Amino acid sequence: MYTSILLEMAEGIATITINRPDKMNALNKTVLDELDKGIDEVMADTSVRSVIITGAGPKAFVAGADISEFKGLDKDQAMAMAKRGQDIFRKIERSVKPVVAAVNGFALGGGCELAMSCHFRLASDNAKFGQPEVNLGLIPGYGGTQRLVQLIGKGKAIELLIGAGMIDAQEAKVLGLVNYVTTPADLIQETKKILQLINSKAPLAVASCIKAANAVFDESINGFDLEVKEFGDCFVTGDMKEGVNAFLEKRKASFTGN
Ligand code: COA
Repeated sequence: MYTSILLEMAEGIATITINRPDKMNALNKTVLDELDKGIDEVMADTSVRSVIITGAGPKAFVAGADISEFKGLDKDQAMAMAKRGQDIFRKIERSVKPVVAAVNGFALGGGCELAMSCHFRLASDNAKFGQPEVNLGLIPGYGGTQRLVQLIGKGKAIELLIGAGMIDAQEAKVLGLVNYVTTPADLIQETKKILQLINSKAPLAVASCIKAANAVFDESINGFDLEVKEFGDCFVTGDMKEGVNAFLEKRKASFTGN
């Protein structure tokens, strides 16, 4: 069904692997279409509680949009391409199931943007991050100018954007761009370990946390008001009763997502 991504589901975790290792997993139209479909598929699958996005092969997470598809595009087509990428990445960001990037190598341009659209990131120690678009006379088009500022602050973000600098995994961690750095061999297992812990929590409360945190960056929503609403919505769930009872009865809660 898919030619350029791999989709694997096991124990409540879906792993989407961008699968063009000979082209550094560059995001061509097919990859974007399949990523879009793959995200829809895992969101609709009730057995999936959380998602990992990673890249195939030892060298790249994703080395950007596929530059070979840029030639011959006019302005409207270029804007449509940026809009399409933004829409897919926004869908990832707004997913109420946690989506985590396991960055296994170069995360450049659209690759850095894809990783930044995820809820948080782990990186292997060979990972490199950057937005090198100014080298092509371009700027990021899949949300990079916005999310890089959100994640690491304006000064460092602008330096990276206008200097096309590349940073390694350790520096990315210091800047808050990634949460953890692992060896390449441990990356997926460590990511799964974190998601298994999250998957043991109340799913509706997890979803509410993501919605409320996203509201910080959405001017159309008052995040404090949303927090009150989500708090109330959680308060009347079966899982809230189970969580409170389990605490009072000194036992481990068993959540159902209801
Ligand atoms: N789009 C299209 N093809 C890409 C690509 C991209 N963003 N990034 C890498 N590739 C292709 C290369 O053209 C090459 O293809 P070929 O074997 O058919 O010639 C293949 O992937 C391997 O890349 P190569 O450059 O030979 O590997 P490297 O190890 O020397 O360098 C990078 C790796 C990631 C540093 C380098 O490929 C690079 O700078 N890529 C572009 C990054 C970029 O500008 N991204 C933003 C795009 S808007």
